[in-house]
Amino acid sequence: MSNRTLFLILTIITLISSSISTSYSNNANTNYMGFRAPLRHRDAGCGLSKDKIISRAVKRSKSRATTLLSTSKVTTTAANPVASVKILVRPSEGEYLMDLAIGTPPNPYSAMIDTGSDLIWTQCAPCVLCVDQPTPYFNPLASKTFSRLTCSSSNCQALDFPFCYQNICVYMYSYSDGANTAGVLANETFTFGTRSNNVSVPNIAYGCGNLNEGSLFNGSGMVGLGRGPLSLVNQLGPKKFAYCLTYFFSPISSPLLFGSMANLNSSSITGPVQSTPFIINTALPSLYYLSLIGITVGKTRLPIPASAFALNVDGTGGVIIDSGTTITYLQMDAYDLVLQAFKTQVNLTMVSDDNFGLDICFPWPPPLNSNVKIPSLTFHFDGANMTLPELNYMLYDGSAGLYCAGFGPSSDGSIIGNFQQQDMYVLYDLENGILSFAPARCDTM
Ligand SMILES: *[C@@H]1O[C@H](CO)[C@@H](O)[C@H](O)[C@H]1NC(C)=O
Ligand SMILES: *[C@@H]1O[C@H](CO)[C@@H](O)[C@H](O)[C@H]1NC(C)=O
Ligand SMILES: *[C@@H]1O[C@H](CO)[C@@H](O)[C@H](O)[C@H]1NC(C)=O
Ligand SMILES: *[C@@H]1O[C@H](CO)[C@@H](O)[C@H](O)[C@H]1NC(C)=O
Ligand SMILES: *[C@@H]1O[C@H](CO)[C@@H](O)[C@H](O)[C@H]1NC(C)=O
Ligand SMILES: *[C@@H]1O[C@H](CO)[C@@H](O)[C@H](O)[C@H]1NC(C)=O
Repeated sequence: MSNRTLFLILTIITLISSSISTSYSNNANTNYMGFRAPLRHRDAGCGLSKDKIISRAVKRSKSRATTLLSTSKVTTTAANPVASVKILVRPSEGEYLMDLAIGTPPNPYSAMIDTGSDLIWTQCAPCVLCVDQPTPYFNPLASKTFSRLTCSSSNCQALDFPFCYQNICVYMYSYSDGANTAGVLANETFTFGTRSNNVSVPNIAYGCGNLNEGSLFNGSGMVGLGRGPLSLVNQLGPKKFAYCLTYFFSPISSPLLFGSMANLNSSSITGPVQSTPFIINTALPSLYYLSLIGITVGKTRLPIPASAFALNVDGTGGVIIDSGTTITYLQMDAYDLVLQAFKTQVNLTMVSDDNFGLDICFPWPPPLNSNVKIPSLTFHFDGANMTLPELNYMLYDGSAGLYCAGFGPSSDGSIIGNFQQQDMYVLYDLENGILSFAPARCDTM
């Protein structure tokens, strides 16, 4: 975005928002308890083949993984006519869309959930620049509950680099795939849940984007679920959420649960609940870091050095859990050991799959009577073992006739991806700083 454009945007945004009268008296946060919203995989119902869905997701994961853990991503637009604006570049895209509605009366739309960033935003009319979206652009002038936030408001201050113009709080977000969104930070009433069972929550701070460019992934904005103050989970109480992702190719939506609905007594849970503490990385405070201490493949506990998963003082390294990355990325040394373990334990010649972009693959199905077994796999976290069913780490490429482990190498930290979290109830409890998980039949929830 050039400085000239930026100046134009700021001027227009300010003009637009000045024309909207402020200070509607929203109801105080009422007795909000919790809600359940359906999540859809972005490629569900697109009529794509299984192979295509996987190769697209792996490709997106690769670009997300390279930027998600990058600690040096502040770009500065120097010498612009208004001020020196700093923009933090966010990880690209995500994989799951949630349905919600904005404003009074409510305007339903879908947005990408992102456990790697915080801001909630949608495209707003009038558009200086907007991307095509499946639902009409939200028009704040037609909503009774819109109010823009002042620069001194705590939510404006919670932006990494708030931009203040005539006491109007302007946000600007850049994503690593080249997408941008800019507009005013405002309060609105959001409606969550389903058409038959929903809850309206007033005064949720979000970005009303009058200038947007780049991919919008068939949604109409994003819902940040990271650890920061502007994320949806931190604007609601109790501060916890859970998801239970149905089988990757299932047409059944996955439940996303907030507040009191996010609890571990679901009858769909089929195994023991385990819990592990979150770790904070001050360099990337929005991400959900965990302490991973080892990996077992088959009967072998791999000799992974502690340094492989360590979160370094400079904010590099570490291990996060994410909903927007599909396969799991392991730090290089750990990845090499996993690769070697598969190579020695699977009695087949290992090949790589160009279609999926994966290295740990075997010709499939194996010859009759070859006695081939895919080894079991367990992640050992601090206080919790995550033993994965084969379905959560092996991907079948029908066109190439290959069976591949859903792991990739990372030159920085490690990311536990959503493919590894299928049919698992995953609860993010921000109040107590713990992640809990248990095997579950997500399609029965
Ligand atoms: C919320 O629920 C009510 C009652 O079931 C329904 O009439 C309304 O359309 C729902 N609103 C949204 C935005 O889904
Ligand atoms: C926005 O919402 C917050 C949180 O409920 C509230 O404290 C604040 O007063 C609201 N601001 C405006 C301008 O509505
Ligand atoms: C949007 O959906 C259509 C079909 O539903 C699909 O062909 C297209 O690739 C999708 N776009 C993105 C950006 O995912
Ligand atoms: C589930 O557990 C929570 C506490 O973790 C409790 O408050 C809630 O009442 C329980 N819900 C049901 C349906 O048992
Ligand atoms: C490995 O496969 C070969 C050929 O299919 C077979 O002869 C051999 O017994 C197998 N080894 C093991 C340990 O299963
Ligand atoms: C996890 O597995 C290891 C190795 O099998 C075992 O020593 C440890 O006690 C287990 N931890 C939990 C919390 O089950």
